[in-house]
Amino acid sequence: MEITIRNMRISDVATIAKYDMVLLGETLGEETIKSHLENSDLMRYLIMEEKETKEIIGQISLWIDEDKAQINNFYIIKKYQRMHLGKSFMDYVMKYLGAIHVKEITLEVRASNEPAIKLYESFDFKVVTVRKNYYSNGEDAFLMYVGIGSD
Ligand SMILES: CC(C)(COP(=O)(O)OP(=O)(O)OC[C@H]1O[C@@H](n2cnc3c(N)ncnc32)[C@H](O)[C@@H]1OP(=O)(O)O)[C@@H](O)C(=O)NCCC(=O)NCCS
Repeated sequence: MEITIRNMRISDVATIAKYDMVLLGETLGEETIKSHLENSDLMRYLIMEEKETKEIIGQISLWIDEDKAQINNFYIIKKYQRMHLGKSFMDYVMKYLGAIHVKEITLEVRASNEPAIKLYESFDFKVVTVRKNYYSNGEDAFLMYVGIGSD
């Protein structure tokens, strides 16, 4: 299976809002995502898709402000999980952020989300803060951080 990674388009938004709900249990909503795609210089939405069929495999959304970036949403749809595609997607994003001279990357993850935490740790992210009762179900969030680049 061959994959490609590309910028999200307006025509993807309805599918992405649906997948957000399935994979993350929440979404910014179609209107907000569309307005980010059309108007925001800070938000970047990337899609991983199957090259031939164009099936969407996953997405990562990023907030990038000069040398700081935050990973907002990240998922691989269920049927493609555990095939190292999440790792490939993260690898692409880390190289991309390095190439545009980002130095610090942060993200928030549910304390119980072992698959995601393991994946982030493999890219040297470390838990730097615990945000107690951060989610609506009372669960804690881990704020994870990695510094990249040489200086
Ligand atoms: C987290 C997520 C993106 C991982 O994507 P994936 O493509 O399935 O992950 P990969 O196959 O690339 O796995 C990479 C590593 O992550 C860890 N990992 C991934 N899934 C795991 C699982 N179910 N259990 C334990 N470790 C897991 C392993 O260390 C794995 O390496 P290994 O297969 O060599 O052991 C995917 O599980 C997902 O979309 N989850 C739902 C949404 C979500 O939680 N997003 C993150 C929000 S912060």
